[in-house]
Amino acid sequence: MIFPLLQLALHTIAVTAQTDHASSFAFTSNGNPILSNGSWYSGDPAPLVVNDTLYIITGHDTAPANENAFNMNEWGMFVSASPSADGGEWTLYPNVAEPQTLFSWAEPGSAYAAQIVQGTDGKFYMYAPVTEANSSNEDAFAIGVAVSDAPTGPYTDAHPSGPIISQSIPSPGNNIQNIDPTVLVDDDGKVYIYFGTFGALLGYELDPDMVTVKTDVTKVTSLTGYFEAPWLMKRQDTYYMLFAANNAGPDSPCTPTSYHACIAYGTASSPMGPWTFQDVILPVVSSTTSHPGAVEVNGEWYLVYHTADAAGGGHFRRSIALDVLTWDDTQSPAKINVVDQTWAPKSSTSPTYNVAPKAKASSVNETPIQYWVEALHDEIVRENPLPPDYWCSWIDTDSPRVNTLVYTWNETVQLNGTSMVFFADHAAGANEGVAPPQEWYVEYRDHSERWQRVENTTSYPLGVTDSPDVVRFEPVDTGAIRAILVASGGNGQYAGVAVKEWEALSTTLHSV
Ligand SMILES: *[C@@H]1O[C@H](CO)[C@@H](O)[C@H](O)[C@H]1NC(C)=O
Ligand SMILES: *[C@@H]1O[C@H](CO)[C@@H](O)[C@H](O)[C@H]1NC(C)=O
Ligand SMILES: *[C@@H]1O[C@H](CO)[C@@H](O)[C@H](O)[C@H]1NC(C)=O
Ligand SMILES: *[C@@H]1O[C@H](CO)[C@@H](O)[C@H](O)[C@H]1NC(C)=O
Ligand SMILES: *[C@@H]1O[C@H](CO)[C@@H](O)[C@H](O)[C@H]1NC(C)=O
Ligand SMILES: *[C@@H]1O[C@H](CO)[C@@H](O)[C@H](O)[C@H]1NC(C)=O
Repeated sequence: MIFPLLQLALHTIAVTAQTDHASSFAFTSNGNPILSNGSWYSGDPAPLVVNDTLYIITGHDTAPANENAFNMNEWGMFVSASPSADGGEWTLYPNVAEPQTLFSWAEPGSAYAAQIVQGTDGKFYMYAPVTEANSSNEDAFAIGVAVSDAPTGPYTDAHPSGPIISQSIPSPGNNIQNIDPTVLVDDDGKVYIYFGTFGALLGYELDPDMVTVKTDVTKVTSLTGYFEAPWLMKRQDTYYMLFAANNAGPDSPCTPTSYHACIAYGTASSPMGPWTFQDVILPVVSSTTSHPGAVEVNGEWYLVYHTADAAGGGHFRRSIALDVLTWDDTQSPAKINVVDQTWAPKSSTSPTYNVAPKAKASSVNETPIQYWVEALHDEIVRENPLPPDYWCSWIDTDSPRVNTLVYTWNETVQLNGTSMVFFADHAAGANEGVAPPQEWYVEYRDHSERWQRVENTTSYPLGVTDSPDVVRFEPVDTGAIRAILVASGGNGQYAGVAVKEWEALSTTLHSV
């Protein structure tokens, strides 16, 4: 079953930013994210290889740190002749195009996931989803095509009469959101486009002119968990469709919450299908959205995607990454192996007393599908979190009175403190929404496996702050602790309780 990724519905029309025609700049990457200092956030990468050089077009994420909405006004491009998961030399072209300068019919903003391919005429065609100005369609997203003699531009409209695909073009009856185009120029010169989000995946053949939509629409429904971000490619005689998948549920092989996406793929023996689901190749990443592109350069295949891992990054401040993609040619069709996600070496962080990241986290009450128990000990506290950035007990009018969270270690730890960062959207005492708990306390598992309350020497703070006071207690040697959270409310109706982070403090410092 597909659950909507709620944040994707927040398509705000961004204010036109100051056009930044800053020229390209070179930098050395030491691993993922490719540009990690947060100076230019990039999402929705689409790779292209020309003459052994990798060109990655991306959208530019410019949302302020605490704004939960895409704010994307331009496309940029990362270029490297020596790409590697360990880094390499790169050049960033920060302003390759903007919707309203490419297409006279487009509004500014919403520079969403584009792809550039080389046509049989040698020119470069950019398929760009933008919003149409003065659109009479229910959803104004439309796909335009721009063309250039060089991958880095300048691009001009290849189809000045308007978009090639919208809710009314090439024919009425398309009621999806028309974004995320992926295009393949096949070995025989035929051209194919697929696109669509929120679980809808449509495809057409295009004329070799790259802009004329040729055949009846193909609707793909066989790719299990398909959510958005298709990537069409061919290797040997097999067509591959990579995509962002969401099939949240307790037994999901892929997505722990309704907000996450993993990368999965299917195969077909002809470009218009039928498509057969194959497997998941990249688990969830640190951003709620995920977006694949795959390409072979200098004899090595890479998966290009985005994460929230750059400095100051977030779900709407993403940064592109690249990792080696390998094939299992003993299978037919050849399988894509699970991709090993890598990061640049971390600069040595100072040791910490918090041993929660080493624990296994669990909730005794079932965690509703939009929240994430792993958020308890990820050491990320967002000021304006999305639901998977915290654990929560909220179930409409049925939130439980008592909630129990558990940390279990596979070794004995000596603890003398704890802290909890709460999230709330209602005031203390509320019996609805999410409110601070009425009370909470911590127990540890003693040598005879019994739960004992820790002897706290300071009180348990109940305020909603991202830097709460620590609760100190007499040291305990244990393999597990649990937090009992009593919700506010009464008479059978209780507020939800939400925890962004729960620290378990050891008596000794640990390096991470
Ligand atoms: C981030 O890295 C880029 C590339 O090395 C550099 O040009 C830029 O000045 C850096 N920005 C900050 C804020 O450190
Ligand atoms: C690729 O190489 C060919 C042959 O040298 C050259 O004509 C063409 O301009 C190059 N294209 C790019 C994008 O570098
Ligand atoms: C949209 O309509 C307004 C009012 O008619 C017009 O001024 C504007 O130029 C139109 N925009 C585009 C991009 O066509
Ligand atoms: C204990 O857990 C850590 C982190 O989860 C893991 O790296 C380690 O291998 C585990 N040790 C044992 C003995 O299971
Ligand atoms: C232990 O915590 C409770 C609840 O916050 C508090 O009332 C009590 O004063 C604390 N004990 C000490 C010794 O501070
Ligand atoms: C726990 O014990 C260590 C070692 O005595 C001490 O440095 C630390 O401040 C204590 N932490 C708390 C929360 O009391």
